[in-house]
This record gives sequence, structure tokens and C-alpha cells, in this order.
Amino acid sequence: MCGIIGYTGSEDVREVLLDALELLEYRGYDSAGIAVRDKESGNTQVFKCAGRVSDLRAICATERVLCGCGIGHTRWATHGGVNDSNAHPHQVGKVTLVHNGIIENYRELITDYDLAGDLKSETDSEVVAALLNRFYEGDPAEAIKKTVAKLKGTFALVVLFADQGDTIFSTRNVSPIVATSCKEGAMLASDLTALCRFTNRYFVVPEYHILTLTADKLTLTDFDGHEVEPEYLTADWELNSAGKGGYPFYMEKEIMEQPEAIENTIANRVKSGMPDFSLDGVPDSLFTDCERISIIACGTAMHAGLVAQALVKSILHMHIEVEMASEFMYSDPVIDEKTLVIAVSQSGETIDTLEAVKYAKRRGAKCLSVINVKGSSIARESDYVLYTNAGPEIAVASTKAYTTQLAVFYLIVARMAHSRGVFTTEETQSFIRELQRTPEVMKKVLERRRDIHVVAKKVLAAKDLFMIGRGLDYSILLEGSLKLKEVSYIHSEAYASGELKHGPIALITQDTPVVAAVTQEKLMSKELSNIKEVKSRGADVVIFMKESIAESIEGEYEVFKLPDMQDEFMVMPASVALQLLAYYVSSDKGYDVDKPRNLAKVVTVE
Ligand code: G6P
Repeated sequence: MCGIIGYTGSEDVREVLLDALELLEYRGYDSAGIAVRDKESGNTQVFKCAGRVSDLRAICATERVLCGCGIGHTRWATHGGVNDSNAHPHQVGKVTLVHNGIIENYRELITDYDLAGDLKSETDSEVVAALLNRFYEGDPAEAIKKTVAKLKGTFALVVLFADQGDTIFSTRNVSPIVATSCKEGAMLASDLTALCRFTNRYFVVPEYHILTLTADKLTLTDFDGHEVEPEYLTADWELNSAGKGGYPFYMEKEIMEQPEAIENTIANRVKSGMPDFSLDGVPDSLFTDCERISIIACGTAMHAGLVAQALVKSILHMHIEVEMASEFMYSDPVIDEKTLVIAVSQSGETIDTLEAVKYAKRRGAKCLSVINVKGSSIARESDYVLYTNAGPEIAVASTKAYTTQLAVFYLIVARMAHSRGVFTTEETQSFIRELQRTPEVMKKVLERRRDIHVVAKKVLAAKDLFMIGRGLDYSILLEGSLKLKEVSYIHSEAYASGELKHGPIALITQDTPVVAAVTQEKLMSKELSNIKEVKSRGADVVIFMKESIAESIEGEYEVFKLPDMQDEFMVMPASVALQLLAYYVSSDKGYDVDKPRNLAKVVTVE
């Protein structure tokens, strides 16, 4: 969702802002804007529009002046429609502002401070600009503190004051801001991706502090005016690894990167063939002292949790629940000090997951998070973190983040099984050996991606589609189906195949293709019976099937053979195949695969 950039320094300010906004496009947005301060006149000019950053670039090309600083924003509409005036930055009097988050009491503020006459947009953000302007009497910190004291909700605010030279001010609550200074100047952003071009050293601005940026100085103070030393982190991402690397879309690049991403995720966590979290500082007591597990996540990360649930049940025989973070707090969950909460998130910023973690901790649970972005809000809120080391994931549709989350779950299950006495050392090592085969097996699927492209053509024209499977296959298909619907806009539903007869089979006709997964040997015969049922009703069926059991149906169906792994691990090759299916359908339809309509990569509003 909304992206923020602020820069003051020696480079061409507009170019820095526009390039950064392009890097933030992946978060999902519908409008973009920048404000730059003309060095000669001291005026702050605002350029903004509904549409893409490329549209904004065209507007900005008209008039060029020398600028010393500027701020920029990509907006994902919440309050007010998608149009030029609702785009950020908002300018009221001496204040020019961009905002991420939601101000819940903006209506009351308009009434209480009689701000209606100052407003030109329908946004909650402009109300903050108006309030700041009302309180501003030459002291930015005072005005910011007074304003923040009146706000209810979440916010990352970045502000230029007309009479404060090339200085940028920022404060935040919940919504993240990262910042850095380097030889080109000082900068801040909603996430690290926008800063990567300049440096991989950054810090997360603490909540309720004031950050002041000038070209040669970066100052952080608390609300009492005390200076605070920023806690710098180093991102271990390659600075250029966020590029497309010759692929037409990030999604394809990220699918192809999975073998390496899995290796990076498990490499330092296997010692003498055993799972080992000593470098992560995760103690075994976390796994032995709990009585139940609760996995909290959204979207694809939640689907990774569903696979983990199946593994925990069958291997550890423990009580486990997977909770959609958005439902969690309102469902009176059974959470106490005997519950191990595992939060899963690529970005580490999904607001529902973050709030759910805070809630679980208040109830006394210990929280372990599985996160891709180092130093993100959920990582900081958790007791322990296992990073997925997938590198930057830019495509909205999550691929390598999902499979690296799965890899972490296999490690957790193995470590837990051994520490709880369920697995012997030999059994644990054998389980880990199979996990270590994953990159090679995935490569085999990737090498045969042209065959999946052929399969994709068969479902291209579908309006509705079903994906069916049992057990782990059903969990994989929930993710495969989400992938397909988000990038191809085909209405796709994953169904436990045994449930088909209880309703959905009424929708099966010759116009509803069915994608089935058959990777679990013990379920094969039942799965094949369900497949026959849909075939008899006219459906075209494509089966993704474990190679060693596929012979039995040779010639009867369209089959893509998945390279063999032990059944618990078939999720890995099957996921790659289903990701490729979604990717090819979308790209063959000519869609912007990386930026599906209405979707955002980082969901920062509840
Ligand atoms: C959005 C993204 C999904 C992602 C979900 C959870 O919906 O488009 O790809 O799975 O958020 O995000 P997280 O960053 O918490 O994994």
C-alpha cells in the first residue's frame, strides 16, 4: 500500500524521488505525487496525479528548477476516490505533507478545529496537514507533537514547512519509516527497497520520535527533545538484486530464484545434519514448553501456515490452529502462556498480523515470527525471529517468500520433533536430508516450465475453475488457486475433493476446467475417484501428479509429472508448478503480472 520517500542532498532531487517511487510501485498504488523545494525561490511545488509513476514523471518533465529537498508518495486509496486532488502530497498553508496509515478521528478533528475551509480533498491525510498548519508557529517539533497528540489511528508523516529550508521532518505511529544518511545526502522511506540504490545501512525510526533530515545531518529526538542514537541495521540483500535480471516480470524472476532462496534459508540452519537455530537465538525451550501452537498470518503466508498445520498434526500430534490475522482478535482465541504463536509474514508489516502478535503477547504467549524483511515491525514485536532470507520480493503475488516460509516450517517441525522426543536423531537427519534435496527437485520443475506453459493455454479461456485435492494437496491448491485468481482474474476455487459432492459439483460443466493435485500416495485412489466424478460431468481435467504414481493413469488424463520427494515434501515441487501455471495464464492474457488490479504487496490498513 502507500509508499513514502523523502530526500535532501546533492543529487537531482526529482530524479531521486521519481526513481524511488518506481521502486515502491510494487507495494500497490493508484496515484502518485512529489513536492520539491525550489532552491532559489524557496517555494514548494507539488506535482501529483491519479495513475502511474510514469504519468507523474511526464507532468514533472514540464518545468525544471534546482531543488534541495523533496518528498514523494504513492497512494492506495482508502478515504476518498482515486483522483488528482486526493493524491499526496497535501499542501495547507505552510505545511506540505505525505501520510501512510489511517486517521480514525479525522471527522471529529475537522469539526473540533473548524478545518473544513482548509480542505480541498476527501482524505483523512489532508486533515493532518491542516491541523499541523493550524498549530505551526515556527517550531516544527512543537507543531508535530501537538498534532500527534490529537490523532487517533496509524500514521507515518513526512513534512516540509515552508520556512524551514531544505529540511524534512517525520514522525510515526505503527506505520513504518526507515531512514539513512550517506554521501549523497539524507533520506527516509516507507521501506528499504526505496533506499537500496544508495545504501544497505538503515534504521527503523522509533514510534513517537521526531526525525529531522538535512543534507549533511540526520537527527532523531524523542518527544521530550532528547537526542536518541539511531540503531542502524545492515540489509543483507544485494543492492541490485531488486532488478528484473532480464526477465519480463519480477514474478517469473522470483519463481526462478526459488532453489537458491531455499538454499539460503536452510544453509546456516543445518549442523551435522540436524536443524539448528543457535545463530537465530531460538531456544529449544520454546518448542518443548508449549502445549499448543497458533499460527497467525494473512494471504499466502497463511497458506504456508496451513501446510505447517498438516505437518504438525501428522508428525507432532499436537493441537494447532491457523488463524487469519484479520479474524484472530475478534474470535476469542484460546491463547495463553502455554501457546506458541508463530506469526508468518513476508513484509513483516501486515497490520492485522502485527496487531494479532501484540494481542497474543498481552495474553502471555511467546511469539516466534517467520519474516522476510529484516527489522520490520512484526520482527521487532516478536520474542524470536527466523528470517526467510528470500531476498527482496517485488511481485505482488508471493512466490519465493511462500516456499522459503515452508522451508522454515520444515526446520521448525524437525527441531520440535527431535526436542520433544518424537523423532530420533536418525529420523531427524533423514527428514532434513529430504529438505536439502528441495532446490534440486525445484530446478527439475523449472527446467520443464515450457510444459506448464502448454497446460496454461488450456485454462486461458476459463471464467471459472476448480482446484481439487485432499490432505496436503488441498493446502497446496488453496495457494495455487489464490495465485491464479490474483494474477489472471479467473474465478478459481480450491476445494477439498471429498467435499465436492456437498455442493460445488453442481457448478461443474464442460466450461469449468478442473486442476487436481495428486501427490499423496495414501490418498491417491480416493483422489482419482473424485477426479473421475468431475470428468464424467464434462470438465477438462489437468493433474499435477507425483511421478512415481502417475503411471497408473497414463493416457487417461492430461498429467504434469512432479519429480518425486517423500509425500510430506511434495508441496515444494507442486507449488512451483502451480506458480508457473498462474504466471503463464496471466502473461499470455497480456496482464501486468507484477501489479494485479486492486492488490497491494504490503497491506498496512486493517
Ligand atoms: C498481501 C500480498 C500477499 C501476501 C499478504 C500477506 O495480500 O499481496 O502476497 O501474502 O499480503 O503479506 P505478508 O507480507 O504479511 O506476508
